[in-house]
Amino acid sequence: MEYYVMTLFPDMIASGLNTSIIGRAIEDGKIYLESVNIRDFTKDKHGRTDDYPYGGGAGMVMQAQPIYDCYQSIRSRLPYQPRVIYLTPQGRVFDQQMAKEFARAEGLVFLCGHYEGVDERVLNEIVTDPVSIGDFVLTGGELPAMCMIDAISRMIPGVLHNEESAEDDSFGDGLLEFPQYSRPEEWRGIHVPDILLSGDHARVDAWRREQSLIRTADRRPDLLKTAPLSPKERCFIENYLANKKDM
Ligand code: ADE
Repeated sequence: MEYYVMTLFPDMIASGLNTSIIGRAIEDGKIYLESVNIRDFTKDKHGRTDDYPYGGGAGMVMQAQPIYDCYQSIRSRLPYQPRVIYLTPQGRVFDQQMAKEFARAEGLVFLCGHYEGVDERVLNEIVTDPVSIGDFVLTGGELPAMCMIDAISRMIPGVLHNEESAEDDSFGDGLLEFPQYSRPEEWRGIHVPDILLSGDHARVDAWRREQSLIRTADRRPDLLKTAPLSPKERCFIENYLANKKDM
């Protein structure tokens, strides 16, 4: 997988992703990450990349020319037509399913906007996927791009090592993950649930599944609509929710 991030703040991308698991994946050559500075492509003699909006209004707008030329310099090096993701609160909201789908791409190009926006003409020309990371407004697209790159990369075979497997993750099976505990067995008088010390793997698995169901019902009941549950599990969760209402 190769990522190209078009940004006015390339250092932000590098410093955010060159550590921990993603940093290791870059070092191992599992993923390739290149931040491309949009400013390097401006033809403005003062190095500007933004200007006032036509029609007036607050803030500045990123101009089309530097972004388009930046994109063309990336495109000309690729033997395939990449998807171009524009980070914007107006996009489709990113989720685990999208992370899995994007992880199948050969490479992805990200466009990080700033200021009040980006000239619509260049967006219409190059963007294939406007994506939002949630219903809130950030000052730029860099953090959303980093979030997406992190989530997509961990879906790529070899990026997570065995012990970091994505299988049991929240959303992996449409549910939130069960609670985890580590040593010591007792901390501030609070004990680890007995069943986790029993060594009975079948009972541990059943308990964890039940905890996932309960946690999802408590925190994200919307996920239960689409989670693949057995009839027995549906029954369990209906009882749980009915009892909770009575309490
Ligand atoms: N840029 C600013 N806010 C954003 C958001 N919520 N998602 C993606 N890009 C953004």
